Amino acid sequence: MSQPLLSSRPPSNTRALAAAVAAAHEAGELMKKNLRRAKQVNESHQHDIKLELDVQCQKLITRALATVFPSIPVLGEEGIDAASEKAVARWVVDPIDGTVNFAYGIPHAAVSIALEVRTEDGFKSEVGVVYDPFMNDLWTAIRGKPARLNGRITQVSTRARLDESIVSLGFAKSQDSLEAAQADFLELTHRVRKLRIMGSAALALTYVACGRFDAYVEAGVRLWDIAAGGLIVECAGGSFVTQSLPGEHRYGLIASNGLIHDQIPHARTSMAKPKSPSPKGESKVRTRSKSRPQS
Ligand code: IPD
Repeated sequence: MSQPLLSSRPPSNTRALAAAVAAAHEAGELMKKNLRRAKQVNESHQHDIKLELDVQCQKLITRALATVFPSIPVLGEEGIDAASEKAVARWVVDPIDGTVNFAYGIPHAAVSIALEVRTEDGFKSEVGVVYDPFMNDLWTAIRGKPARLNGRITQVSTRARLDESIVSLGFAKSQDSLEAAQADFLELTHRVRKLRIMGSAALALTYVACGRFDAYVEAGVRLWDIAAGGLIVECAGGSFVTQSLPGEHRYGLIASNGLIHDQIPHARTSMAKPKSPSPKGESKVRTRSKSRPQS
């Protein structure tokens, strides 16, 4: 069995960001061209659709990234390079987040690309890019620096009261996460100003990052849905709390401006009282910073 590539060095974050932005733009162009066209459906389930365009976009992104970084593997929704488990760095890609929206011609979907780097207890995102080709909104982040929206520094909202907040909910695909989302809906609906269910986890996270939403809650997402957006929330001064769930690369999450986290009921999860970073597999606080990162 091959050993982890611990001796190789992760790439420069700045170069990685530039490569991810270029790849996201390429995929975004393909999405824009195809929004209103008939699309080939590769798989259809009750609560999910897989399009040939998902596959095409991932191929295009993989090719674009590989021209700059030929040896960094991709862990993507449409295929996982086996080398990504042992590599010192890997791309985590959701070529079209919000596939069902996109399939139905709803212009609310995004490209999500993160660069994750191996740490002692797993991987963490160092670079994140989320691109909404329909609004031409590009969110970027490099760990330790401020998040940006279309090049300008962006920050989470300052609302401190749940009853004045807009909270977005994700309704995923599995039975257990749908039931949990229904419980969240009933619990939150009378306690917030508005609930929003928009259908793209990556955009829900970036909407939190730039203050359009105050929080986003979902009971069962996959790593590629959140790896870039989670970092962007953190770099925008917010809180990104995940709980590892059974199943590969599966998480529950609460992302927020940090100020309302404790007012969001989490009785069904162990995300209720996040304290210091906990062992792998348990819920953890990635960031609950009050101070903003410096540029
Ligand atoms: C889905 C979307 C959706 C979320 C699901 C995700 P996909 O991703 O982000 O908003 O509720 O959990 O799986 O399949 O469109 O890439």
